[in-house]
Amino acid sequence: MLKRQRDMITLGIETSCDDTAIALMRGRNDVLFSVISSQIKSHSVYGGVVPELASRMHQEMIMPLLERVLEASGIHDPSGEIDLIAVTAGPGLMGSLLVGVMTAKALSQSWDVPIIGVNHLEGHIFANVAANRKLKPPFISTIVSGGHTEIVCVKDFGKYELLGSTRDDAAGEAYDKIAKMMGLGYPGGPVIDRLSYIGDPDSYPLPTPLSNTDKVEFSFSGLKTAAVNIIRNSEKSGTSIKKEDICASFQKAVVDSLTCKIKLAMDITGIKKLTLSGGVAANSGLHRRLEELAAEEKWDLFLPPVEMCTDNAVMIASAGVDSYMRGNRSDLTLSPDPSWQIW
Ligand code: KG4
Ligand code: ZN
Repeated sequence: MLKRQRDMITLGIETSCDDTAIALMRGRNDVLFSVISSQIKSHSVYGGVVPELASRMHQEMIMPLLERVLEASGIHDPSGEIDLIAVTAGPGLMGSLLVGVMTAKALSQSWDVPIIGVNHLEGHIFANVAANRKLKPPFISTIVSGGHTEIVCVKDFGKYELLGSTRDDAAGEAYDKIAKMMGLGYPGGPVIDRLSYIGDPDSYPLPTPLSNTDKVEFSFSGLKTAAVNIIRNSEKSGTSIKKEDICASFQKAVVDSLTCKIKLAMDITGIKKLTLSGGVAANSGLHRRLEELAAEEKWDLFLPPVEMCTDNAVMIASAGVDSYMRGNRSDLTLSPDPSWQIW
């Protein structure tokens, strides 16, 4: 007999980029145990994610993490105690996705437990659902990460409409590139966010990209080039720049761009519920601006806790169990799709 969604015990597996994450969930909301092994230190030496290294590290970490989750959750008989295995099947890095999907299929077969492939971006939407029992569609979901900048209308779970995305770089990618240029390490978002506190956001006049168009769309490549030019010109002329001022000015431009297009999407749809997810959703400047705007516009704003903004397996388990309850199924033919489009 099909279990009710809130009773189902789901093992979530996420390996799409540089975090190996495993979680055990009851239903969509109750986290029984969650672990994340970040590879940031290994990749930061190279200034960005090295795909070959990422997949190798997933391979090393996935079984020890699984053992830890099972042990900590007191699971002795997975075939009798786990009802579903949810695994990220795309989008992401092929070699990284393969490790998660192959592991999930092997477990599914040996435990005789059904498997469901989850879209990573649907997972990010469910980071908010998992964290907020009260969140129900319709709502607007803004996904801002290292690979994506998208505003989506969640008409219902499983029914998504893309309202707009970036023409070029993702917001997180721009953060990472600027930080690399300034020798601030990888990932750039958290360090630029921290330095912005002590910098002057009006010291460098950076453009707010596409702020005067009436389309929900982003572009961060021009902004990135403008910031890079300021850094290069100062190097050439031997004048010193204050890194914190560049950081604060850059962050102001990104936050202005994001909030202006979020407001446009809210106005176009008339929906008053907004969620934010993805790594850049951890940004403190963005939080502050959206909290002010939500109060002015009387929106219900849902921000996930910081550990749910970046990649994790709780969001994958939550999205997986919901998808399964909606009737979706995968089987042992499941294979990763690095560019899986869900809307
Ligand atoms: O969602 P995520 O963990 O991985 C992807 O699916 O891409 O997002 C990682 C991205 C990186 O680009 C990182 O620089 C950015 O999120 N990020 C931030 C902050 N924390 C992480 N960007 C701005 N402010 C932050 N506090
Ligand atoms: Zn992500």
